[in-house]
Amino acid sequence: MTSRPFGVGLTLEDDRQALFILRHHRRFPPASHALVEQISERILILASAAREPMDDGLVFFHGREDSSFSAMATTPAFANLTLVRHPLVQHKMTLLRDRRTPTKIFKELVDEIAMLMAYEATSELSLDPVTVETPLEQATGFQVSGKKLTLVPILRAGLGMVEGILRLVPSARVGHVGLYRDHDTLEPVDYYFKVPSDAAERDFFLLDPMLATGGSAVSAVSSLKRAGGVRIRFLCLVAAPEGVRRLGKAHPDVSVYAAALDRELNSQGYILPGLGDAGDRLFGTR
Ligand code: PRP
Ligand code: URA
Repeated sequence: MTSRPFGVGLTLEDDRQALFILRHHRRFPPASHALVEQISERILILASAAREPMDDGLVFFHGREDSSFSAMATTPAFANLTLVRHPLVQHKMTLLRDRRTPTKIFKELVDEIAMLMAYEATSELSLDPVTVETPLEQATGFQVSGKKLTLVPILRAGLGMVEGILRLVPSARVGHVGLYRDHDTLEPVDYYFKVPSDAAERDFFLLDPMLATGGSAVSAVSSLKRAGGVRIRFLCLVAAPEGVRRLGKAHPDVSVYAAALDRELNSQGYILPGLGDAGDRLFGTR
């Protein structure tokens, strides 16, 4: 008989990963002891419980998540922001920032980071139970609820994030929002909009590597809402505090996922330390 605390269920595969992490930290505890331990940003809780021999009843919490092991962080100053701090994301972000990184590698890195971020941003999608026939018997599984996820890149630079996410969610639909920042006013200029007509029934991931003043993001979310969108997440690589605040104020219902929260904007509205002009670096224009 297995009892689990807090009603959080982990699959056997997750349990094995949990045990691996504990062994990796050389802190594998005696099976019957209760343990609360903070490792970096992860809090591990091992609850002593009546259990099967193969089931150690481990529950993991970090940030908002209770179902995966990736390091994510929320910060009280920005309630709408989740930082994806997975080591691979941070490693690739450092290569991306490097001014010596050529266009080809820059494009590959944006693609890879977007995929890793989407793994986190999809962790809260709701599931419906389904039954499938294995070659041996019936099994209960799950499928993502509702209509197909819809990716909406903000042109141009958001395009660089689409393919990586589509590798993870191949059936996702893709809409487009065309915006560019006026160089003098830094305000967004709208030039294209197309998303699926049944927007109210879909989950949207709005994609743009850069959240700077927030003007483009606010405008894109407003357009999406006018088209009927209600469940919208904003995925970016680098966010500036100004942009996170502006988006949170205009659209508090929209969660922002970023790989980095940078220091500030310069007088031309570029993020510092940032990575430069994302569109130019992606497409080799300058
Ligand atoms: C960049 C970036 C965002 C916007 C962010 O696009 O890709 O869309 O700036 O800035 P904001 O938060 O201050 O609005 P840009 O306007 O350079 O257009 P491009 O992608 O066509 O180069
Ligand atoms: N857009 C970019 O591409 N980079 C910035 O730093 C700010 C806006």
